[in-house]
Amino acid sequence: MLDAARALGVDLDSVCGGRGICGRCQVTVGSRPGIEARASRLSPPAATETDYHARRPLGEGRRLGCAALIVDDVAIDVPADSQVHRQVVRKRAGVDALPVDPVVRLHYIEVIEPDLASPTGDLERVQEALSEQWQLRGLSVLPYVLQRLQTTLRKGEWKVTVAVRDEAEIIGIWPGFRDLALGAAFDVGSTTIAGHLCDLLTGAVLASSGRMNPQIGFGEDLMSRVSYVMMNEGGAERLTGVVRSAIDDLVGELVEAAGVERTDILELTVVGNPIMHHLVLGLDPRELGTAPFALVTTSALHTPAASLGLSVHPGARVYTLPCIAGHVGADAAGAVLSEGPHRRDDLQLLVDVGTNAELVLGNRDRLLAASSPTGPAFEGAQISSGQRAAPGAIERVRVDKETLEPRFQIIGQEQWSDEQGFDPSVVTGICGSGIIEVIAELFLAGVIAADGTIVERPGSDRVVARERTFSYVLSEEPPIEITQNDVRAIQLAKAALHAGARLLMDHYGVDQVDQIRLAGAFGSHIDPMYAMVLGMIPDCDLARVSAAGNAAGVGAMMALLSGVARREIEGVALRVEKIETAVEPRFQEHFVAAMAIPHKTDPYVELAKVVDLPARAESLERRRRKR
Ligand code: FES
Repeated sequence: MLDAARALGVDLDSVCGGRGICGRCQVTVGSRPGIEARASRLSPPAATETDYHARRPLGEGRRLGCAALIVDDVAIDVPADSQVHRQVVRKRAGVDALPVDPVVRLHYIEVIEPDLASPTGDLERVQEALSEQWQLRGLSVLPYVLQRLQTTLRKGEWKVTVAVRDEAEIIGIWPGFRDLALGAAFDVGSTTIAGHLCDLLTGAVLASSGRMNPQIGFGEDLMSRVSYVMMNEGGAERLTGVVRSAIDDLVGELVEAAGVERTDILELTVVGNPIMHHLVLGLDPRELGTAPFALVTTSALHTPAASLGLSVHPGARVYTLPCIAGHVGADAAGAVLSEGPHRRDDLQLLVDVGTNAELVLGNRDRLLAASSPTGPAFEGAQISSGQRAAPGAIERVRVDKETLEPRFQIIGQEQWSDEQGFDPSVVTGICGSGIIEVIAELFLAGVIAADGTIVERPGSDRVVARERTFSYVLSEEPPIEITQNDVRAIQLAKAALHAGARLLMDHYGVDQVDQIRLAGAFGSHIDPMYAMVLGMIPDCDLARVSAAGNAAGVGAMMALLSGVARREIEGVALRVEKIETAVEPRFQEHFVAAMAIPHKTDPYVELAKVVDLPARAESLERRRRKR
């Protein structure tokens, strides 16, 4: 069966090369018109199959493709778990299906023993076995493998399993048969680092974990970290050191959770914004702090894991996805890979909101990318009672349009503030999604005018005078107010984001997009409707605006599990047109128009179909009255 599958180019897996050891070649007898399913169309189970079955029972009707002989016309079904290029359903990691086609593969070989008559080296006989048994030729070998080659061959009695990377290099060797090859994918964000441990052979996610990026101690946002590097001798090395050891600690957590060894990890992938990308790789990020934001390289890189201080298998490499431009990094490349705007016919706007919003617009014909300097306001910085999204932060807000009484929900508590059991003592502040909701709600209630001014509301003790402006009292105890400055900070951030998107739309020649995907932790947390009421994103059918989850992290996992995915994103990254917002005169124009809520001139027709937007004139009238 296995021979027939190979001859026909059918996708049937094998690690042991047809020796009845690995069990990857399982097939079932199927039926086709004129060929009914009958077990007798294959030879009776051979000794290798019964041996295998005694060790690991084969499922109902399953046969080992390498042992079963074809004795009659037969239709064969190859189950998904026996395919080399399979799709693995993976809900837990936030993605439906991941193609599995890893760059590191295991190959079991039986090597001819040396004798005096044919005095070739052990390596040459390993290479010969790989050539004959696996058609792998001209492989190079890592020094680490060479050093262990002779002892491993003898320990395994000339039967060994080798790990081959990219069909080009032997990166590991073990005595006897082995079918464990793991990989780890990391998304290094400026605030958090997330990691997933995956089985490279099956695509299964074995463990996931995350932790804060310890670089936060050197500056909350990216630019303050670059400033730290600029102002402190050895600053880059320190930032590199702490982020690498955080990744290494995460590796420890992941292997412990999965009950495996660090040395089982043979391949890793990393995505991150350009500054994180540079710091993880030990590259100087200073050029990224000022225009023209030149990267050391935009190419995908393959770096020995040991050189990044990661204790995993000595032959493991770290693949970093390509960066797209100075401010659009490997994290955006990961998001593109996972979201696939380049695989679509309709026009997708992919937005990853952080200190810098990374924006990608396009479809299979054309892709454009830009970043917009939103600043840290969406992360709760620059907001009077702002904080990062953490337990105790207000994340959802509703405001009664008549009484202006608020109700809110905090991270870590299910009850809303007006429900029984709500504990106000744990409220610590308001995070980005909360501030977006409260400002949007206040706009819908007429408390905030289209130009962002908080207007007086006689008779309400929720709107209070503070020097020459007004504030909205969201909570009395603990005191949390939405000040005029808070609204301004959010207006500036959202105008930058909106203007970036508009600029891409200008370049594409459209004034409407078909679909908007909000990526990243923050993007996944905000309510698309409120984001649109505020005018963070362009007008679009609300049903087609949705959260993309951790798209960058999913992209890192796709690149971990599939060489095809790597080639895909490397090709796509090359053809993305980069738009530099800083040098575009129209950016400023769009920015000014986008300061209004939701926008100065765009009527937001789609949004108005589902949300009762205050009449523009009325808001302006209120403002005039206030003056
Ligand atoms: S190929 Fe390994 S058991 Fe059949």
